[in-house]
Amino acid sequence: MSKTKASDLDFNNLDFSYHDLPYRYRAEYHDGQWQPGELTTDSTLQLSESAVALHYGQEVFEGLKAYRRKDGGVNIFRPDRNAHRMHNSAERLMMAGFPEDEFVKAVKEVVKANQEFIPPYESGGSLYLRPLLLSTSPEIGVHPGHDFLFTVFAMPVGAYYPGGLTPTAFVTSEYDRAAHGGTGQAKVGGNYAASMLPGDNAHKAGFSDVVYLDPREHEYIEELGSANFFGITKDGQFKTPKSPSILPSVTKYSLLALAEELGMNPVEEAISIHDLDQFAEAGAMGTAAVISPVGSITNDGKKHVFFSETEVGPKTQALYDRLIAIQYGDEKGPEGWVQDVPLK
Ligand code: PLP
Ligand code: COI
Repeated sequence: MSKTKASDLDFNNLDFSYHDLPYRYRAEYHDGQWQPGELTTDSTLQLSESAVALHYGQEVFEGLKAYRRKDGGVNIFRPDRNAHRMHNSAERLMMAGFPEDEFVKAVKEVVKANQEFIPPYESGGSLYLRPLLLSTSPEIGVHPGHDFLFTVFAMPVGAYYPGGLTPTAFVTSEYDRAAHGGTGQAKVGGNYAASMLPGDNAHKAGFSDVVYLDPREHEYIEELGSANFFGITKDGQFKTPKSPSILPSVTKYSLLALAEELGMNPVEEAISIHDLDQFAEAGAMGTAAVISPVGSITNDGKKHVFFSETEVGPKTQALYDRLIAIQYGDEKGPEGWVQDVPLK
């Protein structure tokens, strides 16, 4: 695969596909410690055919974004939260966590080195960063590895769900992405492998993604594809599911705080799929999804329409406006949410 050139990109029409940018960060863990990491231009990995990551999925990843501000500077949004979540994910899979402050430094180095690929402010795009930690040890017994590789690469992106703030349709699935007591809280590749078949079934049936229900009773909403769910009740309350098998989303915790600011009295609580009537609006939230309005959810062949199938609702719009104004540096957010990336 050849390297992407910035001059070949149409920053106003980016999707969510991989681009081989000039630089990525790499560090290796051997003999019980992380060795000094560095930027490299090689986008390929050389692994033993018996690397634990390949056979038994001892692999965790993250996703966060860098945003070009109006003044030309660059922000990253809450990288400390991603660093911390990766640590927790690594712990769940018995991997050596990458030091959290080094994680943030590595992300900033990758942004700086690939700065010509950060979409302009006006484009509404961003630079998606993908930190990845994998177990490289040759092990064929099911044992945790002792050697690890940490890498961070980047790619310029636009909307994850087609149409951005245009509502899309979701459907429940008989499949689960994660078990109760499984790895739902950790950002591990296996959860996503498990989501591919239900996701594909949903796409083939004309839906943008799946509504996962809780793995024990199939009654309570868990997540929407690769994003958390929120609903705005008819009296304006922001609700999002509480469950041990969903990913603790950085966007969700940010919107819980912003909903409080906006007087939406936010709560995390179990949300039954049979209780959708309580909501005037609904949405998916995540780094890739940002906020994507949910037009409808189909469950057991019955379609429930929220605010509209074509228009975003006012509360969803208000949350979106406030979130992206903070991320792109147009408005000040809560202390410490946004970090400047030095570009020189
Ligand atoms: N849920 C799943 C399954 C995800 O893959 C993501 C994306 O990271 C999210 C939720 C949203 O999390 P965050 O807001 O931290 O990106
Ligand atoms: C993210 O929002 O960063 C995600 O993880 C979504 C990704 C799996 C496409």
